[in-house]
This record gives sequence, structure tokens and C-alpha cells, in this order.
Amino acid sequence: MTSELPPALKAAIQGELAGASRRGLAERAAATSAAYRAGGTSASAIKAREDALAYALARLPATYAATAAVFAEARLRAPGFAPASLLDAGCGPGGASWAATAAWPSLADIAWFDASLPFLDLAQRLAEGQLQARTIRGDLTAGGFPRADLVVASYALAEIAPAGQGAVVDALWTACDGLLAVVEPGTPAGWARLMAARDRLTAAGAALLAPCPHARACPLEPPDWCHFSVRLPRSRDHRLAKGAEAPFEDEKYAYLLAARPQVGEPAVGRVLARPRVGKPGIELKLCGAEGVERRFVARRDKAGHAVARRLAWGDAI
Ligand SMILES: C[S@@+](CC[C@H](N)C(=O)[O-])C[C@H]1O[C@@H](n2cnc3c(N)ncnc32)[C@H](O)[C@@H]1O
Repeated sequence: MTSELPPALKAAIQGELAGASRRGLAERAAATSAAYRAGGTSASAIKAREDALAYALARLPATYAATAAVFAEARLRAPGFAPASLLDAGCGPGGASWAATAAWPSLADIAWFDASLPFLDLAQRLAEGQLQARTIRGDLTAGGFPRADLVVASYALAEIAPAGQGAVVDALWTACDGLLAVVEPGTPAGWARLMAARDRLTAAGAALLAPCPHARACPLEPPDWCHFSVRLPRSRDHRLAKGAEAPFEDEKYAYLLAARPQVGEPAVGRVLARPRVGKPGIELKLCGAEGVERRFVARRDKAGHAVARRLAWGDAI
């Protein structure tokens, strides 16, 4: 799937860039990326307005695209779900909330919870005249979340010390009246965090809507891990901020959709890797009720092949 920022958000980011030195922002973006890559958190990487802006330029398009992909899946799994309230926990500049309101126009009450003033301020400036959200400055590990139909934590769990992650997941679930979406980088570590969250959520009675087709133990064994990919276009400023040439990037993400009973249903299976298309047929890596399997669909199986040809990495079956 391909995902692009909404025009109003793009325009708001462009507005923030007016008068800013592109070279200065590119340097900031490189410095913040290096800080994140070195295992740092936003608290150390985002000190000032310009750092938050550099994040909006370099990372927000990708985290927006990942959350948009996750919400598109949520809509398929829970077609009747029409949330009125959203808690965006660890909201940063608010990209996940933009993706959520695009997916669910029913959202009227949005709460942004974050520890970072530069991020909260930028989120408000970007949203001016478009999204209305109340800002709560707080520590995710201290809880105190407002209840919401839809609760989202996008690329936020990664920033919580491992010993505190379980309690944050519990508190997010307690605040959730409908659907909880946890999105993480598509790395083995991101997946491991989600697997720990999965155990806690199912023990607390949550129904898993995606990506898992069942709530039994995950059949994947490290070094294998479950993750997905979304392609997004890069604007000129985005390329500049990343020091990259390609006009697009592929964001790898992992996610979990957990829900209160009756909100939705999981799919019977999911495509866990890019299908391998060859002359004799298509090889699919599938997760289903029986575990993970590699299924070969021969070209001569015309009906099966026609179905397999339309399947992409991450699709439900
Ligand atoms: C990598 S950013 C992700 C931002 C946004 N959700 C996104 O997807 O682009 C992580 C966010 O979590 C927030 N955060 C990290 N640890 C936190 C904590 N203990 N309490 C509150 N916010 C925290 C950071 O300030 C930052 O805004």
C-alpha cells in the first residue's frame, strides 16, 4: 500500500518551514536520526522547536503512513466501529491522529498525551484550523489517561524502559473502550515488544483483530519476526532532510490491534512476506490457524493463481 500525507498537513508543515534554513533543518534531522538510532529517546533528541520540525520533516511522513496502513486494516476487521474519542499516547507531532481522523471521520474528541513540549506545541500548530485536540502533558509511565474509544500508541512503546512497558500497555488497555492500536518499528525488537504486549492484552481479555489470525501462542520463532512495509513518497524537503535521493521510501512497521469483545473479527490468515512470484507459480508465507506455512500456488491452478496474484505482503486472507 502507498500512503501520502493529507494536503492540509503537508501545507501546515510547509508553513512551518517558511523562512527556515533547509541546510540547518537537514543537519537537525541528521542529528535527531543519529540520536534515535543510537538508542536515544525523544527526550534526548527533541530539545527545541527546530528538532520537532526536523522530526516532522524526516519521520512524520513514515509514521503517518504506517498508522494509516494499520487503521486501514482496522476498518476491514471492524467495519462497524465508529469511534467518537481518540487518545493518541506519545503523540509527538500528531501524525497518528491525522491518520485516525482520515480513517474515522466520526472522531470528535481527541486527546494528545506526551511528555515533550516541543512536540505538543508543533502538533497544535500543525493542526490549527484542521484538527481540534486537547493536550495533556504527562509521563506515559505514570498513567492517568482519559478514556477513549480508540487508543493509539505509535512508535512510543519503544521509548519506554523495558521494565515499564507492561504497565503502560495495561494502562492504555484500561483507558480503551473499543480498539487499541500499538504500532512499533518493524524490527525484531519492535516485534518482541508487541509480543509481550500481546500476552498481557490477551490475558486481560482483549480480542486480537490483527495482524494475528488467532490469540494462541505466536508460531514465529526468532530470528523470524512479523512486520510489514508501506511505501510513501518523499517530497523535496523530505529527501533533503534525509540526505536521500530516492523519491520514495519503504517504512517497515509492526503492529497489534486489540479490541473489546464484539468490536471486530480477525481474518482467517495473513500474508507475512512479499509473495515470491516465479514462472511456475507464487510462493506465499502465510500465518493461519495451523501456524505459519509456505504455500505454493502453481500457475496451472488458474483460479488459485488469480487469487494469489492479487495478494500483497500484509494482506488478510
Ligand atoms: C518516536 S516519537 C513518536 C511520535 C508519534 N507517535 C509518531 O508516531 O510519529 C515517541 C513519542 O513518545 C513520547 N514519549 C516517549 N516516552 C514518553 C513518556 N515516558 N511519557 C510521555 N511521552 C513519551 C515522545 O515525547 C515522543 O513524542
